[in-house]
Amino acid sequence: MRIDVVFSPAGVSAADVQGKSVEVIDVLRASTTIAVALANGAKAVLPAASTEEALRIAQNLEKGDTVLAGERKAQRVPGFALGNSPAEFTAEVVHGKTVVLATTNGTVALVAVQGAKQAIVASAVNFGVVVEKCREVLLEEDGLMIVCAGSERQFALEDAFAAGRIAKALMPEGGLRKVAVNDGALAALEIARHYGERWLRAFRASTHGQELAELGYREDVRLAAQEDSHPILPLYTDRRITGHRPAH
Ligand code: MLT
Repeated sequence: MRIDVVFSPAGVSAADVQGKSVEVIDVLRASTTIAVALANGAKAVLPAASTEEALRIAQNLEKGDTVLAGERKAQRVPGFALGNSPAEFTAEVVHGKTVVLATTNGTVALVAVQGAKQAIVASAVNFGVVVEKCREVLLEEDGLMIVCAGSERQFALEDAFAAGRIAKALMPEGGLRKVAVNDGALAALEIARHYGERWLRAFRASTHGQELAELGYREDVRLAAQEDSHPILPLYTDRRITGHRPAH
């Protein structure tokens, strides 16, 4: 059994993920936004690698059933209905709708792994159901790659911390003696050890957490740190992310 963590999708090739399940994390804010949208009844979220691609995807969908959303530099793209603030994705706005979402790093990471068997979209708000699904995957596939969206192809603390929390929760009894890990997973586990269960502390320490606070999105950072507040499992297959509720 092995767990690998990569800190950016830049080094992940189609061959690395083909036929496998992977997990994608962009906890501030795309993966949180996706969980919130699906928990509030969105039919699906379609990730796009660019705003142009989002427009193209939306053009082929029924206008009244589609919500175009996305950010550049954390602000709503002009002309799009929503930005990337999870608080905007209320049931009133997204229930029964297909959301087309383009963000700087999160949806780019998702599109980068679209050849995978499935991608589990992970955040703190759906931590428990994500961990449960990852346990299943580890048993079935004997391995899991956790892909952090990072920031513009670089390391992002908040995603690395989330990856470490998930890797720690997946550790079998016997810990590192029973599971092979790459150096990315070792580093993520160390970061998780440092912050413990304090999601908000890690988010506030991160560069992007600070940028969001400066831009007036402090509440988004708090919302993103609410563990298990939106217990839905977003699974990305066939270019669509759909939400699955735990059976119990
Ligand atoms: C991204 O995809 O880079 C982020 O989700 C940016 C944001 O906070 O909107």
